[in-house]
Amino acid sequence: MKHRLAVLVSGRGTNLQAILDAAARGSLQMEVVGVFSDQPEPYAFQRAKERGIPTVFVDPALYPDREEYDAALAREVGACRPDSVALAGFMRILTPAFLDAFPGKVVNIHPALLPAFPGLGGQCQAIDYGVRYSGCTVHFVDVEMDSGPIILQSVVPVYQNDTTETLTERILSKEHLTYPAALQLLAEGRLKVQGRRVVISWEGRVPRQPQDCVLEWLKIKDIKI
Ligand code: GRF
Repeated sequence: MKHRLAVLVSGRGTNLQAILDAAARGSLQMEVVGVFSDQPEPYAFQRAKERGIPTVFVDPALYPDREEYDAALAREVGACRPDSVALAGFMRILTPAFLDAFPGKVVNIHPALLPAFPGLGGQCQAIDYGVRYSGCTVHFVDVEMDSGPIILQSVVPVYQNDTTETLTERILSKEHLTYPAALQLLAEGRLKVQGRRVVISWEGRVPRQPQDCVLEWLKIKDIKI
């Protein structure tokens, strides 16, 4: 049976699209069983509807506080019986009222090399700080913001004439490869969390995509290139 994935979104949903495309190609062996949002009509819902995937808007205005909202969201998400939950541009910080319902099963993508530049505007923070490289991070979610154990990271250069828009675009193209690759490792049961670290088991598998996934594999096998 395919690994069942719920996706939480707030906006345009290009990462959702990358996940749906990878699943359709067969390079991601997951079935997206529901797309959930805190916004009434995010563009991401269109993308889900085109594939016939149910969309659910859970309205924050109907709940008195974050805990009650998160408990309601957990009930809605739980109803589609997901094996994992992927945050893809979901613009709320989740409390234990949600996370405790899916222990160790919630992952996120962040547009910076964590632990650098957590929170909003990771791309703009990187430019302002003057770093020469940035990228994206797929990580498990815990109660702190952008702090859970790291699954995969991809690196991009930062150029002197970059604007937030050009860097965002460069990072985003890496996000679209890295998120499905990390989710596939999850689907194959290859991720083991040991304290802060995620140990990836590559037994019997030579990774093909993305390039950074291959580099990670070469590093683990102690193969120098
Ligand atoms: C991405 O940059 C992701 O890293 C961040 O939110 C953005 C979502 O973009 N968490 P999209 O909605 O997937 O296009």
